[in-house]
Amino acid sequence: MSDHTALKSDLLARIQGAANSEALEAIRLEALGKTGVISGLLKSLGAMSPEERKTQGPAINGLRDEIATALTARREALEDAELDARLAAGRLDLTLPAPPRRRGSVHPTMQVMEEMTAIFAEMGFAVAEGPDIEDDFHNFTALNFPPRHPAREMHDTFFFHPGMDGERKLLRTHTSPVQIRTMQRTNAPPPAPWIAGAREPPIRIISPGRTYRCDSDATHTPMFHQIEGLVIDRNIHMGHLKWTLDQFIARFFELKSVVTRFRPHHFPFTEPSAEMDVQCDTAGGEVRIGQGSEWSEIVGCGMVHPNVLTNCGLDPDEWQGFAFGFGVDRLGRLKYGMPDLRDMFAGDVRWLDHYGFSAFDAPNPLSGLS
Ligand code: DAH
Repeated sequence: MSDHTALKSDLLARIQGAANSEALEAIRLEALGKTGVISGLLKSLGAMSPEERKTQGPAINGLRDEIATALTARREALEDAELDARLAAGRLDLTLPAPPRRRGSVHPTMQVMEEMTAIFAEMGFAVAEGPDIEDDFHNFTALNFPPRHPAREMHDTFFFHPGMDGERKLLRTHTSPVQIRTMQRTNAPPPAPWIAGAREPPIRIISPGRTYRCDSDATHTPMFHQIEGLVIDRNIHMGHLKWTLDQFIARFFELKSVVTRFRPHHFPFTEPSAEMDVQCDTAGGEVRIGQGSEWSEIVGCGMVHPNVLTNCGLDPDEWQGFAFGFGVDRLGRLKYGMPDLRDMFAGDVRWLDHYGFSAFDAPNPLSGLS
């Protein structure tokens, strides 16, 4: 028995000291393998006298069990430690800040166009578009600009070199040519029988887009944006025009109501023509719409001139309507306070970071405008 005590403490000490699973396996084989010491002891039981076996049997079996238990415990401990080591080596540190990533933003002009479109869409206006490169007819003549009329010069037009046919195309100076294209379509046969054809009056469209004039200072840029509006029906009058613009301006500036005024003006394509001013307060250099005792010009408008209707093939004795033209960038500046119009198109990302909108703020009548 006593020799087992020495064997046991030797084996237990070595098991505890085994540095890894391979070392532990070697000890297991040495003790419990086919030719291991404890296996040898177990085999020796068969050669013993029954008396001897009575005491040696439990002792040797007990030794085997104790060593097997110690081996299992040590294996588990070693496996745990090895797993811990592997986890520690391959650890992801989730607390590290992510590298900065540039996120784009929506340009205020695009945001304002979306806001304006959402409001007019709610009032039943459809969106119509036209080309940026126009001809003289759609940009001027059909809109009742007489030939060589000074109004043509006022627009400071960018002309292209004359084409093969001698015609000089131009960059449209306003979105009003889309009025012409829309009204002309009322007479045009549909391109195919299965395509929805002429947009018969009543017409109710807005036309957002880029416009161009040879002009540059704090309130003018060579490229800018307008939204044209056109309503044609049998009995439209200036009261409809005033209501529509008042509704729009109140919604756009998020006011309950606004005070506006018509100021007589001249546009070749409307008669009578007016500019609409909105009540504002500019004390302290900041423009506050809807309060104070000053006026800010906000939109050009009027009743569509009979010549324009005739030029588009509509009988002015049957149809009449109103039109208006907003400067989108100017409206954006009034709402969001950008001081210099030229900065809006300088392409400086710092400016965009400051004034831009999140793409998640896309305006619509349900979620709100801004
Ligand atoms: N086309 C004008 C401009 O660019 C704006 C305008 C004024 C449009 C009156 C209209 C209108 O449709 O009726 O200055």
